[in-house]
Amino acid sequence: MSAIIVVGTQWGDEGKGRVVDGLARQAHLVARFNGGDNAGHTVVAEGRTLKLHLVPSGILHPGLVCLIGAGVVVNPQRLVTEMDELAALGVDVGPSRLKLSAAAHVILPTHRALDGARDVARGEAFIGTTRRGIGPVYADKAARVSLRAGDMARPEQFAERVAENVQAHNHSLQERYGAEPLSPEQVAAEYCAYARRLAPHLADGSALVGEALISGETVLCEGAQGLLLDLDHGTYPYVTSSSTVAGGALTGLGFGPRHVSRVVGVAKAYTTRVGAGPFPTELLDEVGDRIREVGDEYGTTTGRPRRCGWLDLVILRYAVQVNGLDELALTKLDVLSGLERLKVAVAYERDGERTGAFPAEFGVESLAQWKPVYEELPGWEEDISEARSRRDLPPAARAYVALIEEWVGVPVTFIGVGPEREQAIV
Ligand code: GDP
Ligand code: IMO
Ligand code: MG
Repeated sequence: MSAIIVVGTQWGDEGKGRVVDGLARQAHLVARFNGGDNAGHTVVAEGRTLKLHLVPSGILHPGLVCLIGAGVVVNPQRLVTEMDELAALGVDVGPSRLKLSAAAHVILPTHRALDGARDVARGEAFIGTTRRGIGPVYADKAARVSLRAGDMARPEQFAERVAENVQAHNHSLQERYGAEPLSPEQVAAEYCAYARRLAPHLADGSALVGEALISGETVLCEGAQGLLLDLDHGTYPYVTSSSTVAGGALTGLGFGPRHVSRVVGVAKAYTTRVGAGPFPTELLDEVGDRIREVGDEYGTTTGRPRRCGWLDLVILRYAVQVNGLDELALTKLDVLSGLERLKVAVAYERDGERTGAFPAEFGVESLAQWKPVYEELPGWEEDISEARSRRDLPPAARAYVALIEEWVGVPVTFIGVGPEREQAIV
């Protein structure tokens, strides 16, 4: 009777996919609780590299069930493509294996078009969204006009409503943004086919999770994005439109807090961000470039170069506060090998005033006034990709991890030393 929640603690791409894959061994059900195909979760195992956008990262473990939960927004075209790609690799994505909550909301091509048009209309204040329609579909959900996956159970009626919604979006696209409209009939016909294909996967997600918990099974809840992209607790407005924090697992899947046994925060050993918005420890020099190249920091979803910077412990402490983290999973420690000195932000400073608290609620203008206070540590030369216990790490790498634990106040229970499933210290 327990739920394990895995969340990102920075700006996404922390390595949640590989951590979920690692924990999935002990789970019966793996459930994604937020976001859509703006996410790109990588799993490298069994000689394959999976880049998953909607299908939960436990899918390589036979025998367990994967659920796309109510809090997720689903582009059916992307889901069907992803299922086909997985099936071609011999991964079972049949209806008994992969479930889609009837309460998940459906992304239309016009949501995508609106996403792009709105971000362009923001001009210099652009967010740099993934243009997957995420903001517009969650806006429609809140406005109570969106379609839900459960509507696909009756494909013809679903198609009619798709056409109506496309028409309404067209109005906005043309009148507000001078953009091209889409053909309601064409989209409706396409979506009718997706509905037929996906209908067998529809499930009551909350009941599925609830039954698993009551019967003593372990439910692994997979978050997308990261704390600072959270709609309420991130660097608003430079955020995504869903709840990326541990609380989002409860609302996004429909179960209560007493079932939660563990909350795991995934953190990269440094910091990255894709898209616009504040980033206090960003490195705009050759160290940042080096981290990007060695860490292959290019977006899984959009291929954009990720902005890179030093590890920020103010952020990780904030992640403990907002998520109630029990532990940290630290990924990509291997990427720091070969750097002579390492810096870690331990506090922020403004006009001689110091704070250890991340000032998210006061907005990005306030955040811009704070400068990081760094602690400097010696780096290590050694290749650590073969390390399988902390004893195998050079003393400087051990000291780096110990410093994190000391400042953040929770143990590091997982250290990634390479992208492969085996390349970890657990
Ligand atoms: P997610 O969105 O949080 O699941 O993370 P992404 O998959 O977008 O990005 C993480 C990237 O880092 C992927 O390419 C992973 O294969 C890779 N990765 C994960 N853990 C490690 C690690 O410990 N070392 C290295 N070198 N790469 C890692
Ligand atoms: P995973 O799950 C990194 C960022 C976008 C943009 C902002 C809003 O792989 O960690 P959106 O399309 O969501 O409206 O874009 O959020 N973003 C991510 N950055 N990893 C992700 O997902 C992201 N999903 C969205 O770059 O800055
Ligand atoms: Mg990613």
